[in-house]
Order: sequence, then structure tokens, then C-alpha cells
Amino acid sequence: MLDITPDTQNAIRQRLAQQERDRFITTHPKSKALAEEAAAHWLFGVPLHWMSDWSTPFALQVTQAQGATVTDVDGHRYIDFCLGDTGAMFGHASPPVVQAVQREVARGCTTMLSSQDSAWVGAELARRFGLPLWQSALSASDANRFLLRWVRAATGRKKLLVFNGCYHGTLLVLDETHTFSSGPGGYARLHGLQPDALVLGKPIAGGLPCAVYGMTAELAERAVQAKRDAPPGHSGIGTTLTANRLTMAAMRATLAEVATNAAFDHMISLCSELADGLRACISRHQLPWCVTQVGARCEFQFGAIPPTNGTQAEALFDAALEHLIHLALLNRGVLITPFHNMLLCSPATTRADVAHMLQTFDEVLARLTAAGVLI
Ligand SMILES: Cc1ncc(COP(=O)(O)O)c(C=O)c1O
Repeated sequence: MLDITPDTQNAIRQRLAQQERDRFITTHPKSKALAEEAAAHWLFGVPLHWMSDWSTPFALQVTQAQGATVTDVDGHRYIDFCLGDTGAMFGHASPPVVQAVQREVARGCTTMLSSQDSAWVGAELARRFGLPLWQSALSASDANRFLLRWVRAATGRKKLLVFNGCYHGTLLVLDETHTFSSGPGGYARLHGLQPDALVLGKPIAGGLPCAVYGMTAELAERAVQAKRDAPPGHSGIGTTLTANRLTMAAMRATLAEVATNAAFDHMISLCSELADGLRACISRHQLPWCVTQVGARCEFQFGAIPPTNGTQAEALFDAALEHLIHLALLNRGVLITPFHNMLLCSPATTRADVAHMLQTFDEVLARLTAAGVLI
């Protein structure tokens, strides 16, 4: 073991990070030019400021995403384990979703009226997730906000309590946006939980802006009563483009043909292989890290014991180390989720993709360990 002070270790980290940044700059001239052009008119240089929070020195400019790969303007092809932080959990540009969108876009995107797909989608949501009554939104954030408003209206209680790693209340509301990775009916169905309401976001319409939230008949009855009791002129809860024809068609295609039982079997078994491989690699390099898995989603964390609440998870964050590892992986052809160390396996992810990720991860850890960064 090398004897290195924290200051020296910091200096080595910074040197390695600079080497990775230099490598990225040299190999991504077209991304650089486009990023500089975009900076003139987009605040933070990007249309959504999170896009500049990745580990790269300037935003990677993407030309296409197919299956489990992303291609950038410089022609680099990446194996994508980020998958839009779950938005593309079922793969980029799945053929059934592409066909549904191509068909419906030519028939009109939005009318503020129900479409031919609504009845089928509602019945399928009820069948899969075990809650009988549903509403739609354009993002998981909106769905959570809307559901909280309904819950407040239904209960007449205005205050919300936020718990850290435990639950107590009269109503149980779950957000399955990430944990949909557990299986076709999500985490609650798999583990026999009985929520009063739940939210499903990002991947539900194959990556189009869409989310849904469902509730029990009892909660729905109270929500309907609250709506009836609202004063005249009250416009309710939603946004104009919500449940538009295009996203309803994409959601139907996703549920009917993409997020199938067979797809989940493939995703979860590959992710188990990935999680086992990450653990083996971490143990080979004698690092005090852990790997957690929720179905098709796994995550390595910088602590020996898996955290069980938000405070514990936050205590394990090391943004500088994360950036260094993420950029080193990206420079070697692998994307993982920024802001945490999450990897997802999609129906399009292959065994070879997993093997490549594990080999690259091993190379990166070997490099960092040899330099004394991970002591
Ligand atoms: C569990 C969960 N719910 C909701 C959201 C918000 O989703 P969106 O950004 O699509 O509104 C996120 C975002 O990462 C999430 O992780």
C-alpha cells in the first residue's frame, strides 16, 4: 500500500482528471465547436442546465441514440448504461415506439381530447400495477406534484411531512419512476406493497415526455368529491399537452410490446451479471465499496455498507471521484449516469456490452489504484 497524504492524493486526482479532460478535448473537436456555438444563446451553454453537470469539460453533442448505444457528433459510439437516467430504460428508439410515433404524428399530436389508445392504456396500467384509477402528466415531477395536490384535496390536510428512510402516515404514496426497473409491475407489485397511490414517470412512454399516477378506488372517490366541491371556475390539475395523442400511442406501444415480461427477464438477468461483476472488480482492487441492485438497475457506492436512507447515501457522495471515474469510462466508450453511479440494462443491452463495461471499469480502477487515488 502506498503512503500518501490527503493533499498529495488530491493533487494526483486533479492531475488524472486533467489528463482525462485533455483526452476528451482532443478527441471531441466537433462537440467542442457546437458547445461553443450553443453557449452564445443557452444559459449555462445548454438547453437544460443539468446537461453541463456531466463530467465532460463541455457538453457532449449527440447525433443519435439507438438501442443501448449513443453516437456523438465526432462519430464516437458509446455503450449507454445511463439510458437517460431511466427515460430510455427500455432502450433508445425501440421499433414499436418509433412505429407508433411515426403513425400518430402524421395524424395529429394533440387535441385536448381523449384518443383511441386511452381505454387500452388505462386498463393495462390497472392490470399491471394493481391500482384501478389513473391520471396522466408530462413528467414524473409533475405527476408527483399533481398527486400531492389531489391527496391534499382529498384529505383536507395541507401539511406534508417528509421522512428519511421510513414511512408513517394515513396514506402511502410511492414513486416508482426508478424502481419500475424491478419488473413489469414495478417494485410494489413484486414485493406485495399496497400503496394508496403511485407515480410512474420517465420510461413509461418509451422516452417521450409522459408520466402517470394511479390511486385506489377509495382515494379516487375522495379526490372526485374534492373536485365536485371546488368553487366554480376551478380548472383542476394538469397541463394542456398532457395525455396528448402522441404520448398515449407511445405509452401503449411501450406497455404492449417493449416493457414485456421477456424484456424484464433479459434486463434483470444481465443486470445481475453486471452487479456481480462490479462486486468482483471492487473486491479485486480491495476497495471498501458496495453495489446495490434493484432489478435492471444497479449502482456502485463509495462505502462498504449499502445506505438505507437519504442521509447515509449523501454521506457516500464524492463528486470529484465520481467525475473522474465517469469521464475515464466515457473516454473509453461507456456512459454511466451522472450525479450518481447508476447503470441500467435495457432490452437492447447485450452480454458483450456488460463484459466491455466490466473490463473498462477494471482498467479504470487499476489506473486509479496504481496512482494512489483510491487509498
Ligand atoms: C424517483 C424519481 N421521481 C421523479 C423524478 C423526476 O422525474 P422528471 O425529471 O422526469 O420529472 C426523478 C428524477 O430523476 C426520480 O428519480
